[in-house]
Amino acid sequence: MSRPGARAGSSPEDRLRRACPCLGALWDRIFQEKSDPPAPPGPVYTAMWSFEAGHPDELSFRRGDLFLVLNSSGDWWDAHKIERNGRVLAAGIVPSNYLTQADSLSEQPWYFGTMNRFDAQGHLMGPENQDGSFLVRHSERDGVGYVLSVRSSNRVKHYKIVQSNESSFHIAASLPFPTLQALVEHYQSAVLQNAGRLGSACKRRQPGRSDLSHSTVDHWTLPKGEFSLGEQLGSGYFADVYRGRWKNLINVAVKILKSDSDVDFREFHREVNMLKTLHHRYLISLFAICTESTPYYIITELMEKGSLLSFLRGPEGRLQDVPALVDMSVQVSEAMAYLEERRSIHRDLAARNVLVGADYICKVADFGLARIIKEPVYVTTEKKIPYKWSAPEALSHGTFSSKSDVWSFGILLYEVFTYGGVPYPGLDNQEVFEQVKTGYRMPKPTDCPDFIYHLMTECWQQEPEDRPDFRTLQRRLNSSTYEFK
Ligand SMILES: Nc1ncnc2c1ncn2[C@@H]1O[C@H](COP(=O)(O)OP(=O)(O)OP(=O)(O)O)[C@@H](O)[C@H]1O
Ligand SMILES: [Mg+2]
Repeated sequence: MSRPGARAGSSPEDRLRRACPCLGALWDRIFQEKSDPPAPPGPVYTAMWSFEAGHPDELSFRRGDLFLVLNSSGDWWDAHKIERNGRVLAAGIVPSNYLTQADSLSEQPWYFGTMNRFDAQGHLMGPENQDGSFLVRHSERDGVGYVLSVRSSNRVKHYKIVQSNESSFHIAASLPFPTLQALVEHYQSAVLQNAGRLGSACKRRQPGRSDLSHSTVDHWTLPKGEFSLGEQLGSGYFADVYRGRWKNLINVAVKILKSDSDVDFREFHREVNMLKTLHHRYLISLFAICTESTPYYIITELMEKGSLLSFLRGPEGRLQDVPALVDMSVQVSEAMAYLEERRSIHRDLAARNVLVGADYICKVADFGLARIIKEPVYVTTEKKIPYKWSAPEALSHGTFSSKSDVWSFGILLYEVFTYGGVPYPGLDNQEVFEQVKTGYRMPKPTDCPDFIYHLMTECWQQEPEDRPDFRTLQRRLNSSTYEFK
């Protein structure tokens, strides 16, 4: 992504001064000894959100605080909190996803970085924002570039910002601006077609955590006593799920396993060890487990809006238009492409196992655990097999692969584009099994775009090798032309 103001061929000092003029005092201090210039400092980072430390080695900070990063490997970084003149205030560990490189664009309260349409709607339609609230984002779709998203008459409108070169941005071709800042300032005082004037910048929401604290990255078997339990959020065949808090600091979901007697303790630890290494913004973060006594707990990040299935069936689901439904599907396909590349098979992909956050982000849940927790139950109580989501080879021979996950993704697309409809309506499990074996496939749901139905039928090819892989599905969904419809 090329940013305004980043010109090639200038010195590091020039580039830093231009990117972040507000840090003039810091640059003066660093570059003052011209005769013997110090090694160029690492980039300066700024905090996009406030953060409360969960461990004495971590730094608490407020939005807008500045940092020099000493070690930037992994999700937790060693950093110095600094003043604008470069004086070090404190040293400690900070979560990397709360920081962004300080430059004139990322410091703007209205610039939200790379974000898709569904996320943008989720932010802008939150109760903390009003008509006129807006943000500028960089679209996730190939070749789209910057987009201005504005809340107007209780819906969100999206305007493509055309960037013709490094210093020319426009919505209307007759009105170019040298920077995004200038464009935004203009539409704060002049009317934007169909949306009025821009009001205040969209309020930001906290990002998810990948761990409870840096100390639990490697030590993730924690005592039950560190968690307090609140209301029950839901219940599945294998677990009850509660809202909870860790050390009274961080909200979590606590999944209490019902079938603990069937779980092999060592295999459970081995599997969790592997699952803990999987990190993706569209995968639920697995924080910890509690196994000192039965029932076992699995601690994950809390997703405020519950399962995608209940979300789509509820009042907010109906408000989602086709582009938003495409974006949800893109998020799931991206997480699944990541799992596919890590050779990790989900085995239970369905809208009930995708969760929706307060900011409308969709994250895939329950990945991997199916094999150790659910299969002993599937084997003994046949009726609990999720027949309607399972590929024929998984049902007949127990052959699971990324391509059997792709079949399930096709069923998930059906659930999404029918706002939580039950697949194969009117058929029971045995009928579905028999009919699918002889080539029956669901017809196109009403109002489902042709290209989505086409993807579904490709996912439901009889032979696994004839189905697309997740990376291809993600690319095809992403390159759809729905961003501005
Ligand atoms: N991390 C979470 N944050 C918020 N709610 C959750 C979370 N995990 C689960 N839930 C809620 O608890 C419910 C039950 O989840 P659970 O995974 O146990 O069962 P399920 O997904 O409905 O079915 P299955 O047993 O096939 O997984 C979900 O539908 C959801 O509403
Ligand atoms: Mg589940």
